[in-house]
Amino acid sequence: MSSESLHENAEILGAQVVDTHRAIVSLMEELEAVDWYNQRAKATADPTLQAILEHNRDEEKEHAAMVLEWLRRNDSKLAEHLRTFLFTDGPITEIEAEMVQGEDGGDAGESSTSTADGSLGIGSLRGTGVPK
Ligand SMILES: [Fe+2]
Repeated sequence: MSSESLHENAEILGAQVVDTHRAIVSLMEELEAVDWYNQRAKATADPTLQAILEHNRDEEKEHAAMVLEWLRRNDSKLAEHLRTFLFTDGPITEIEAEMVQGEDGGDAGESSTSTADGSLGIGSLRGTGVPK
């Protein structure tokens, strides 16, 4: 096993859990690299080195996004949360509060988890649909 950070026996965990572990560790490494490049780019006084470090930092963001997408495709609960929170403009904690309200049956005449149009009732918190 190439990854030494498993907490349980890989044979017991199975291929899906081990692959998910690989993806999570990769995502952590990519985001850590973003942080390191970001700090180095900010700290250097050499503008050419700064440009290189910023370029490399932004490539790590692409890598992170790719592995996050793999995780989304292989984890339905993560996909559900990403669908709820990503690319929204409203206060993030209010999105969660509206979800909880929906789960508590806060809207009479509607199902406990969705509105009549099938949404989670957070459309008013979403932006214009243009990703940033
Ligand atoms: Fe990378």
